[in-house]
Amino acid sequence: MPWERPASVPYPNVWWTFDAPDPDRDDGGLTTYRVEDLTEDRYDDAVKLYTENFLDDEPLCQYNRIRHTPVAYEEVVGFWMHCFSERMTVVCYKEGSKEMVGANLLAVKEINNSVDISKLIRSAGMQKLIAVNEYMTETVNLFERYGVDKYLTAYGLSVNNRYRGRGIATEILKARVPICRAFGLRLTSTNFTAIGSQIPATKIGFKTDLEMRYDEFVKVNPTYTFDGIKGTSIKLMSLVIE
Ligand SMILES: CC(C)(COP(=O)(O)OP(=O)(O)OC[C@H]1O[C@@H](n2cnc3c(N)ncnc32)[C@H](O)[C@@H]1OP(=O)(O)O)[C@@H](O)C(=O)NCCC(=O)NCCS
Repeated sequence: MPWERPASVPYPNVWWTFDAPDPDRDDGGLTTYRVEDLTEDRYDDAVKLYTENFLDDEPLCQYNRIRHTPVAYEEVVGFWMHCFSERMTVVCYKEGSKEMVGANLLAVKEINNSVDISKLIRSAGMQKLIAVNEYMTETVNLFERYGVDKYLTAYGLSVNNRYRGRGIATEILKARVPICRAFGLRLTSTNFTAIGSQIPATKIGFKTDLEMRYDEFVKVNPTYTFDGIKGTSIKLMSLVIE
């Protein structure tokens, strides 16, 4: 049985609020933002956010041309929809606005209960992307290292281009703490694939379990080449929730 969100945790829930600069304010003043559960009425907007503000920027998706390869794009949207249906994805809104400012695709991973999605994937780009992510998590046994039987993971952090550079990704990551507490999870771990997410994660206390430079993956498998990728390394990083 895959993990299911317990009915005892209210849904939809607001997990985190914070003040940050607003690109729509000329006076440089701060505006309040909130991080809350994604609801079904906004699934299409979340797909739009990830299509327009993730696929051509995140190093692995950009390198593998996921947005520009019809089969791969169909597969990634199918994967997002599956994640959304687990009701763990969080989104960020600005008070008084319906615009989706950012999002984080979250999921709970349990020991001995992993779904092998690679068999459902046909495109070479998505296969390679999944393979390197799996290499990271299989090399470090997080369950053993941290003595947990489940943890909160993530499959994509995105901030709308016009809101970037204002600390919003950092605040979205902070929401992991109250989320973990509400679900009784003692650990959150993620493969951070870009410097723009590795810096925020470090700032709020994530520690690196494993770092692999993109040009090191060919040593693992000669087909895992990333010549010219816009990024340096993938970091598997973890935050222990006290
Ligand atoms: C990565 C992303 C989520 C960051 O969002 P954001 O709201 O701009 O992030 P923050 O403002 O909280 O922090 C970003 C930090 O990284 C730094 N940074 C971003 N890009 C950088 C780069 N190319 N080189 C060096 N530092 C960089 C910023 O300066 C900032 O650090 P600072 O606050 O110390 O100056 C956003 O750029 C995005 O959606 N990118 C596309 C998808 C992606 O790559 N997601 C991450 C994959 S795990």
